[in-house]
Amino acid sequence: MKQWVTLMDGIDRLQVQEVPEPIDIKEDEVLVRINAVAINHRDIKIINGDFKGRYATPTDPMVPTSDASGTIVKVGRPAAATKWREGDRVLGLVRPTHLTGPTRSEHHALGLGFPQPGVLTEYRVFSASGLVQIPQGLSFEEAATLPIAATTAWMALNWDRPIDRPVRGPQTVVLLQGTGGVSIHALQQATALGLTTIVTSSSDEKLLKAQELGATHTVNYNTTPEWADEVLNLTQGKGADIIVETGGPETMPQSVRAVAEGGVISAVGVLTGMTEEKPQLAIGLSLINRNAVLKGINIGPRDRVEEMMRLYQQEDIHPIINRCFKFDGAKDALTYMKDGFHFGKVVIKVNED
Ligand SMILES: NC(=O)c1ccc[n+]([C@@H]2O[C@H](COP(=O)([O-])OP(=O)(O)OC[C@H]3O[C@@H](n4cnc5c(N)ncnc54)[C@H](OP(=O)(O)O)[C@@H]3O)[C@@H](O)[C@H]2O)c1
Repeated sequence: MKQWVTLMDGIDRLQVQEVPEPIDIKEDEVLVRINAVAINHRDIKIINGDFKGRYATPTDPMVPTSDASGTIVKVGRPAAATKWREGDRVLGLVRPTHLTGPTRSEHHALGLGFPQPGVLTEYRVFSASGLVQIPQGLSFEEAATLPIAATTAWMALNWDRPIDRPVRGPQTVVLLQGTGGVSIHALQQATALGLTTIVTSSSDEKLLKAQELGATHTVNYNTTPEWADEVLNLTQGKGADIIVETGGPETMPQSVRAVAEGGVISAVGVLTGMTEEKPQLAIGLSLINRNAVLKGINIGPRDRVEEMMRLYQQEDIHPIINRCFKFDGAKDALTYMKDGFHFGKVVIKVNED
């Protein structure tokens, strides 16, 4: 079988390896034939070496990426057989041991794509507990987009809500930054929940697409660089109750200005860089003034993934796939996403259904 591998030295240096199919499947594991892999910002950072130092850098080439869907072709017995059957359609959790509650360092240490081997391969062994059934009506490509981007979006909206009682109704205003994977999943979820949404983007064309998906308001952050003012205008001075903060250091000061009193900034991303040398004190004081919460979001556990998927099924939500590349085109897929041309998710088709 074929798999892509990296030494965390850049997209250009990714290579395809031919290796034997896995045959050693433990009792609590299953073998999955991978159908589709979705790419995340994290994958690009890992492949480019930005995460070196967090864990031991692999000396052997490592399979990258973390989000996959596929079909179970072999079940380890008896533990795995209690839950799974050959032929089941599944997606893999990024952190297979994170089943409930907050993300902890022991979950990170078993994360797929780094430090553990990833999923850009034709077959892979998964722990039986690290898989979730794909609901009927979702394709393999759509399901592959859920583990990181959709789960993070769901947690950013609902981290403080009891399971199966998500935030609902137009009185809650949600601000989504940009039109990448997390934001577009959050837009689809928020729209299904009837929330009021404001989407920012550098592109009017992408904002039109966001409107077609149900965005209540849109703001171009290039032509309106002080977009926080526009958020306040659109909400009659109130601000956004939930901000899905994907931008990081350069957007955070405006997010603090745009958050409603008693609202939440769900800190998700670092699209504008990973520096931590920005003035935290001013942000802290502003949060006090606005009685607001700054909540770090770090993907989410299996029970919240399953909760989210119930909404996708009930509301017939279909994740937005901007482009689907062939397995051999993995480098092009990663480069395309790195360059930010996409709206929603970028997927690689590994095996035919
Ligand atoms: N904490 C977690 O658990 C978690 C999970 C997933 C992702 N993340 C992080 O969240 C961020 C977003 O991830 P993603 O997968 O959605 O990335 P993505 O798909 O690569 O998002 C790219 C988009 O972000 C937008 N963007 C770039 N700079 C921006 C800015 N200054 N203001 C507003 N939007 C901007 C652009 O949208 P336009 O083209 O529309 O301008 C760009 O197309 C990344 O930093 C990622 O590492 C964190």
